[in-house]
Amino acid sequence: MKKMKASISVLCAAVLAATCFASSAEAAKIGVSMPTQSLQRWNQDGANMKAMLEAAGHTVDLQYAGDNDIPTQVNQIENMIAGGDEVIVIAAIDGSALTEVLKGAKEKNIPVISYDRLIMNSDAVSYYATFDNTKVGQMQGQYIVDALKLADESVKGPFNIELFTGPTDDNNVNFFFPGAMSALQPYIDSGKLVVKSGQTTKEQVATLNWNLEEAQKRMENLISSNAYGPEDTPLHAVLTQNDALACGVVNALLATGYDNTNMPVITGQDCDKPAVKNIVRGYQSMSVFKDTRTLAAQVVKMVDAITKGEKVEVNDTTTYNNGTGVIPSYLCEPVAATKDNYKALLIDSGYYKADEL
Ligand code: BGC
Repeated sequence: MKKMKASISVLCAAVLAATCFASSAEAAKIGVSMPTQSLQRWNQDGANMKAMLEAAGHTVDLQYAGDNDIPTQVNQIENMIAGGDEVIVIAAIDGSALTEVLKGAKEKNIPVISYDRLIMNSDAVSYYATFDNTKVGQMQGQYIVDALKLADESVKGPFNIELFTGPTDDNNVNFFFPGAMSALQPYIDSGKLVVKSGQTTKEQVATLNWNLEEAQKRMENLISSNAYGPEDTPLHAVLTQNDALACGVVNALLATGYDNTNMPVITGQDCDKPAVKNIVRGYQSMSVFKDTRTLAAQVVKMVDAITKGEKVEVNDTTTYNNGTGVIPSYLCEPVAATKDNYKALLIDSGYYKADEL
């Protein structure tokens, strides 16, 4: 017995020593570049990552690029490279604007992790961590198909719909939009869904910087040019690909006289607090929950593996080609959130406190 106790304590000491050694050997200065503080999710992403990286023993250099200001982001990354950051995590504003600055990272062998949005045309990108962006779009499109019962042959329609996506310089839009259209296009082709504005291409329905006011303005224009209104031409659904766009669209529709008894089906993404409040009020139908804690934790795992020289966990090595080749990726799972499940998803999981909503 004595012998066993002794060998257990030797083992514990060895584990402890190994842990101490490992954590001091792996501690590194990590740069984290986020696009803006004006959208709730990026604040959460940044804060979660900082807390988790620090808990793992790293030093964190967290920077926000003003309000989606590309030159500021380029500058901040330049400083991270010059300042000796050992791994750099970047959520790019414009995925194609970092080619030059990242040449510096490549020269210094600094691994770059592309966060949420893929950085294009740069061979400095080592890994990509995101949510399954195609699935996000499919969930939004499928929600509309189900809500309007489009697959039911006895439901004839036609139903009017308008489409809103993000900016074309966000590579995620190249996945969100086709994802949604894979569910909606067959019904547009058959005439069961009608886009009265005729605006159906990604470029026509893009919104600069995912800006709420831009979406609101475009919806106001669509309302007047197509005479949409509760007493006028019916509008049955609006595909909006994130919560900021959804809030802008809801504002425009409320001002036209819609309320929670006749609001079109409206989709979203992120489960931002104002959007969840709109879901509870019956103004927005759904959002896609992308738990920023999960993504941040996955990136921290990547950073840890890199700093320890271990194999980095990825689960997709075919989908995300950034123009220089496929970037090994880890895709987290998005979940559809509605009035029926938001409490379990967002409150019981500790993501929000009940009084925040
Ligand atoms: C992200 C979304 C976010 C949007 C606007 C996208 O790249 O994936 O979660 O709503 O950018 O910031």
